This record gives sequence, structure tokens and C-alpha cells, in this order.
Amino acid sequence: KTGMFTFDPGFLATASCESKITFIDGDLGMLYYRGYPIEQLAEKCDYLEVCYLLLNGELPNAAQRTEFVRGIMRHNMLHDQLFSLFKGFRRDAHPMAVMVGVVGALSAFYHDSLDITNAEHRRISAHRLIAKLPTIAAQAYRYSKGLPFSYPKNGLTYAENFMHMMFSTPCEEYKVNPVLARALDRIFTLHADHEQNASTSTVRLAGSSGANPFACIAAGIACLWGPSHGGANEAVLKMLDEIGSADNVAEFMDGVKDKRYKLMGFGHRVYKNMDPRAAIMKETCDEVLRELGLQDDPKFKLAMALEKIALEDPYFVERKLYPNVDFYSGIVLSAIGIPVSMFTPIFALARTVGWIAHWTEMIADPQQKIGRPRQLYTGAERRDVAPVSDR
Ligand code: SDX
Repeated sequence: KTGMFTFDPGFLATASCESKITFIDGDLGMLYYRGYPIEQLAEKCDYLEVCYLLLNGELPNAAQRTEFVRGIMRHNMLHDQLFSLFKGFRRDAHPMAVMVGVVGALSAFYHDSLDITNAEHRRISAHRLIAKLPTIAAQAYRYSKGLPFSYPKNGLTYAENFMHMMFSTPCEEYKVNPVLARALDRIFTLHADHEQNASTSTVRLAGSSGANPFACIAAGIACLWGPSHGGANEAVLKMLDEIGSADNVAEFMDGVKDKRYKLMGFGHRVYKNMDPRAAIMKETCDEVLRELGLQDDPKFKLAMALEKIALEDPYFVERKLYPNVDFYSGIVLSAIGIPVSMFTPIFALARTVGWIAHWTEMIADPQQKIGRPRQLYTGAERRDVAPVSDR
């Protein structure tokens, strides 16, 4: 028992580490960042306040918030030589491939913050990653479209700046709709951290060897790319396109029950109740579609039909399969005008603060040792090598 949180002995046996950052109760569908319920953070804070909370353990006061935002904004440009690296990729490279490459390459540019034993270096690297990930993601998109590279514009919010870098052109400044920017900011908050998910565990394991933070975050991006993890929101949109209309839902659901396909955006390793983020995302979805007059958006209606059937169907109820954060996020991003190829890069830029908060927590612990998972060997018994003529 730690404070209000109790863990059964069976759970403790599976825990891979201790952390003060995020608490999840999968049975009750609860998610807390540093003790604050995600519902309150999504409603009352913006993403950079949540970044400050995840990194420092407390919400910032007004002065701390101003200082932190200034600290992030001063790092949001890229070293000019990095743009040549983008040009080394094929135009049709998936943006996640570009992000893995460019983020890993940051360690070749920012030698002045690579000493992981130095707290100031760790702080600067954390700020650099939070600041530069949106710039990198936006340039990956622009390069794929043959658009000239763009630059951040300070004075915009974090989400507004990302939309500006994605869509402004030298001929015309992108006009940010504040309702859409606020929705995107909330998506960043909902994806900011999630305890020891696969990509965060990847960052921790890479960091436990003493690898530099940029290399560790590149490893996290690579892991998040998978369709079972961060690639799910992109997979949800592809699934909705393949189903096409509500008339095909019954046949599709038969295919899910025959295990020919998964219902993307449903199920979770930990949540055996509604993912609290999905409920917030659904409200955000309603808000964005209303703002854009898309309440009758066929994709959203199809998603609602799928959700209704799944929540009532014994196959899903017995298996405790509920919508997760990715079920609605793809529809919101699509309505905002974000291309499907950028869904997972957005998840990656939002999760960077969670990854670097866990990395910092682990590196700052003097007791931490290199991670070394063990295995149960089930291979061949001991045997002797025969000459190749006898094999
Ligand atoms: C994220 O870990 C995190 O915290 C991740 C994340 C984060 O913030 O970092 O929350 C982000 O990754 C969310 C999950 C996004 N992925 C998807 O939406 C992809 C679709 N979901 C599945 O791939 C699946 O639900 C997983 C991978 C998420 C979980 O898989 P598990 O651990 O196998 O799920 P389970 O043990 O609860 O499965 C129980 C049963 C099994 O069937 P039976 O063998 O009992 O017959 O449910 C089935 C599973 O095959 N099942 C599904 C299903 N998910 C599980 N059947 C159909 N569709 C699904 N989506």
C-alpha cells in the first residue's frame, strides 16, 4: 500500500520498476499524472503545464509557467545542417522513419548537453526534445509533400505552432482555428504519459545502459511505431475506410470474432474498463465535429455504430474490450486536417515528455543499474558439434 494506492502481491511480482510519475488503475479506468486525474488536467491545463508537471512533480505557478514556456520556445529551432538529413530520405518515407533518424541524429549536434551525470545537461536535453519534436515532425511532413521547410513562430501556443509549421506556406500564413488548436493541445495531454507502456519501457531500458537521451527517445519512437501501440490511431482510420459503411459492420465483426482481424482502437493491456482518455477524446471529437459542421461525418457515425455494437456484444464484453485512446483520436486528427501518416508522429511528439520524465527519474536514481531481463530457456539440450560431412 502506498498512500491511497493499494497493490496486490501478484501485481507487485510483475512490476518492472518503481515510479512517482503516473498511476493507472486498469480495473477502475483511472489515470493520474503526479496524482492529478487526467480529466482535470485535460480540462484545466494546457500541454506545456502538463509537461512541467510530469518533469518537476508539481504544476507551475504563473512565473514558473512563463519561464518554462520561454525555455521551451528558445529550443524549438533545428540546427541548420539537420535539414540536409531530411533530404537524405526518399520523399515517400513514412514520417516515423524520418523521426527515428533525425531524433537519433540530434546526439551528433548537441554535444553540450550529453553528460547524463550532469543535472543541467539532463534538463537542457529534456527541453530540447520537447521543443524540437514538433518542428521535426512538421518538417518530415513538409518534406514528404515537397513543401519548403518551415520555422516555429514564438508567441503561438505549442499546438498552434505545430499547426503553423505544418500548414503555413511562404505565400500564406495558416490561420489557426483556436478550437482546433485547443483540441490538438488536449490530444497532446492525453498522450503525454502512460506508465510503463512498451515505448516507455524501451526508453528506460535503453537509458539504463547510459545511452544519451536523444538515442533513447529515438528508440522509443521506433517502438511506438507498431500498429499494436502508437500506430493504432492510423490503423483505426484504415479499418473504418475498409469497412466503408454501417451495412458492412456485422460481417466485419464476424471477421473479428473469427480472429481474422482486430477491432483497432479497442482493447488494452491494462485497462479492462473504459480508457479514461477515450471518454475525453470522444467529447473532444464531438466538439471538433460541431465546430466544423461535420456532425454527420460518415466516419464518425460508423465509429459510433462500431462502438455501440462492441459495447453490447458478449464477445467484447466477456473479453473486457473497450475503446482506448486511439479509437477517437484518429477521427479528431482527420477532422482537424492532419493527414493519416502524421497520426503516429503526433503521438510520438506528445509522448516525448513522458519518455524523458521516466528517463530523468531513472538516471537521477543513484541505485539504478543496467536493465537485464532474464528468460526461460526452452531450446535444445547440451550436444556436441559434428563435422560438416556428418551433418
Ligand atoms: C496504446 O500500454 C499502453 O499503455 C499503450 C497505450 C499508451 O498510452 O502507451 O495505452 C497506447 O497502445 C493503446 C492500444 C492501441 N492498440 C490498439 O488499439 C490495437 C488493437 N488492440 C489490440 O491489439 C490489443 O487490444 C492490445 C495489443 C492493445 C492488447 O492485446 P492483449 O494484451 O492480447 O489483450 P487481451 O489480453 O486483453 O486480449 C483478450 C482477448 C484475446 O482473445 P482470446 O485469446 O481471449 O480469444 O481479446 C482479444 C485477444 O485476442 N483482443 C481483441 C482485441 N484486443 C484483444 N480482439 C479483437 N480486437 C481487439 N482489438
